[in-house]
Amino acid sequence: MAAATRGRRHWGSLLGLLGLVSAAVAAAPWDMTSLRCNFGAFCECDFRPDLQGLECDLAQHLAGQHLARALVVKALKAFVKDPTPSKPLVLSLHGGKGTGKSYLSSLLAHYLFRGGLHSPHVHHFSPGIHFSHPNQMECYKKDLKNWVQGNLTACGRSLFLFDEMDELAPGLMEVLRPFLGSSWVVYGTNYRKAIFIFISNTGSEQINQVAVEAWRSRREREEILPQQLEPLIFQAVLDNPHHGFWNSGIMEEHLLDALVPFLPLQRHHVRHCVFNELAQLGLEPRDEVVQAVLDSTTFFPEEEQLFSSNGCKMVASRIAFYL
Ligand SMILES: *[C@@H]1O[C@H](CO)[C@@H](O)[C@H](O)[C@H]1NC(C)=O
Repeated sequence: MAAATRGRRHWGSLLGLLGLVSAAVAAAPWDMTSLRCNFGAFCECDFRPDLQGLECDLAQHLAGQHLARALVVKALKAFVKDPTPSKPLVLSLHGGKGTGKSYLSSLLAHYLFRGGLHSPHVHHFSPGIHFSHPNQMECYKKDLKNWVQGNLTACGRSLFLFDEMDELAPGLMEVLRPFLGSSWVVYGTNYRKAIFIFISNTGSEQINQVAVEAWRSRREREEILPQQLEPLIFQAVLDNPHHGFWNSGIMEEHLLDALVPFLPLQRHHVRHCVFNELAQLGLEPRDEVVQAVLDSTTFFPEEEQLFSSNGCKMVASRIAFYL
């Protein structure tokens, strides 16, 4: 994943420095971090939030998503600042393909955990990989519950990332419901410091419709408000029997802290993605590559040709092709 590569490079320069620091700490007879980590509830593990870094990176690299950026940063700030949160942070990301949902999630992991997506406290679940046989649902339920509980007992500051929620066989998410509220306390360990992120395309049609209408009525994209989209996404999830939350009670009990919309991307956003990608490869911006990528992108609606049908999803592979 492109974001992971860049993240690693980004951390690379810091790692040397951290290595020195941690070597010094390890040499001390009292290692405060591991001491505290023996008491599950106080354990911060490798949770090292750098929200300023996150904000900065999002502003520079997440193309065209003013709403997602603001919502996520605001929710994280409040959550991280609170030493005893009243419930875990639960975010649900919604939008079309290639609009930046996975990208934002990977940046989040990088700026919250020392190991980023490779941290032992970041858990990534994908239906095609982890839950691919619908007839084994009962086993998956048991596994998932044990994993979440086991990992949260080891470290309250864990991140659970669920991809492609609209391909998840129904029933599985029921087991998560108790973890997402405020009452789940086991063996004196509270699980309220965990972060859950759910990703899906559900609601993208509604979001896209609002974006198209805004354009047609000559309103700026930045004038679209979260309050405008939230009820639409909420209803779309409730109405979608293929979404993992179907009949799980999670929507009905309002366990989500934010429904985060990702808007469809315009031509200039795709151009932004091409520049990002070229910069990551250490290359100068090249107009003919930008043009070639744009020419091979399809746009909607049919008439106005405003928004990329695949967002920036194909940018990396197309660049590889045109270089
Ligand atoms: C933590 O979650 C992973 C899946 O990401 C699982 O393989 C592992 O067994 C879990 N650990 C515990 C202690 O339950």
